[in-house]
Order: sequence, then structure tokens, then C-alpha cells
Amino acid sequence: INPGWPATLGPLHTRAGAVTLRPVRLRDARSWSELRIRNQNTLLPWEPTGAGTWAERHHPSAWPPLYSVLRSEAKRGTVLPFVIEVDGDYTGQLTVGNIQRGAVRSAWIGYWVDAGHVGQGIATAAVALGVDHCFGPVGLHRLDATVQPANAASQAVLTKVGFRREGLLERYMDVNRSWRDHILFALTSEEVVGSAAATLVRSGRASFH
Ligand code: ACO
Repeated sequence: INPGWPATLGPLHTRAGAVTLRPVRLRDARSWSELRIRNQNTLLPWEPTGAGTWAERHHPSAWPPLYSVLRSEAKRGTVLPFVIEVDGDYTGQLTVGNIQRGAVRSAWIGYWVDAGHVGQGIATAAVALGVDHCFGPVGLHRLDATVQPANAASQAVLTKVGFRREGLLERYMDVNRSWRDHILFALTSEEVVGSAAATLVRSGRASFH
């Protein structure tokens, strides 16, 4: 019921190393918890408001229930929950969510990268791999991404991969305890010439080997 899942994608080589995407695992608890807690200050301004403190929400014991929701949603075909690895190390996550079939065939894409590894093209490579997978084996036609106006780094990532700005979603999401405006970015499959990964390679931002 979920074409294109499970899958391991890449590698795409960046200044940081080899970027790959692979499905989340139950044994990611410790890496997930450590990175999420260490990155509280850079993640909190952009992430949906959750219940409890950041430390409680990201305790290693919070991973198994989250993992099992992601796993069952992935089995049902509504989510693709990937870990971003750089040279085999857990460095962030990329999630494709709200996968809709039928006449729409769309989903949203979201991501985060460890603050110790930003600015080296990791997110851009990960999004390109995710886009090619969604428009290829998964069979989608459109990807949406919503970003707060102040999140310049994330907008730069989307623009580099070819996403277009479609409009402003006012008071769209409850983030860090307020209803925040978000810019809607989108990409449809016919806008990708060849593949998103090949476009990055041609522009000198990544390489296949
Ligand atoms: N102003 C303008 N551009 C900026 C800024 C800034 N303040 N900071 C960084 N950039 C640019 C960089 O120069 C780079 O572009 P360039 O290659 O043209 O120079 C780009 O932003 C970043 O590209 P990458 O290196 O591929 O991305 P990175 O691996 O650094 O990850 C990310 C970016 C994911 C936004 C990371 O900073 C992060 O995890 N932030 C916190 C969580 C977050 O914001 N996630 C995205 C939420 S929105 C969504 O998921 C759709």
C-alpha cells in the first residue's frame, strides 16, 4: 500500500560527506534524543508546539511510541519517515507527510539537521533525494513545504532544489506557542528537469561519487 517504502536513498556527496536517507529505526532512540536535546535552541522556533518540556518530549523513552506511530503510518502509506545520515552517522531527519493519493497525489516535506553540521549542503542534498523518490517510486505529483518568513536557511534550501513560493498562509501553524504565518512553497514533478539530484550536481552543489 506504500509504494517506495521502505527505501534507502543516495548517497549524494556534499562538503560534509556522503548524504543518505534511510527509514527510522527503533534503535535510533539515543541518537535522536541526544541530537534533539542538544539542538533545542535551533529547533524550537520552527517546530510545532508539543505537550511538556523539550527535555521530556525528547527523552530516549519518548522515541519508541513516536517510532511506532511513524512505522504504522508508513505501513498505511501516509508518511515516509527518513533519518538523514552523513557518512553513516545520524545527522537529522527528513519526513514526507500527509501523502494523498487519488487525483491530488501530493504530500508535504519537512526536515532538520544537527546545528553542528549546518551550512554544508546536507539539507539541500537530503531534500533533492526525497524529491526524486517522491516523484519517482512513490508516484506523487506535488510536494508542499511550509516555512516561517524568518527561516531564511530553510527557504534557501527549498529554492536551491527548485521549489517556488506560492503564497502566505496566515496564522497557519501553532509553533512555539503562537499561531505563526508560513510561506507556502511547492514543486510539481514536471518542474524537475531530469532529477533534482542531477540538477544539484550540475550546479556544483553535490556529486554522485
Ligand atoms: N540567511 C540566508 N541564508 C542562510 C542563512 C541566513 N540566515 N543561514 C543559512 N543560509 C543559507 C546557507 O547559506 C545555505 O545556502 P547556500 O548553499 O546557497 O549558501 C542554505 O541556507 C542552507 O543550505 P544547506 O547547507 O543545504 O542546509 P543545512 O544543512 O544547513 O540545513 C536547515 C538547513 C535544515 C534549515 C537547518 O538549518 C535546520 O535544521 N534548522 C532548524 C530546523 C528547521 O528550520 N527546519 C526546517 C523547517 S521548515 C521545513 O521543514 C519545510
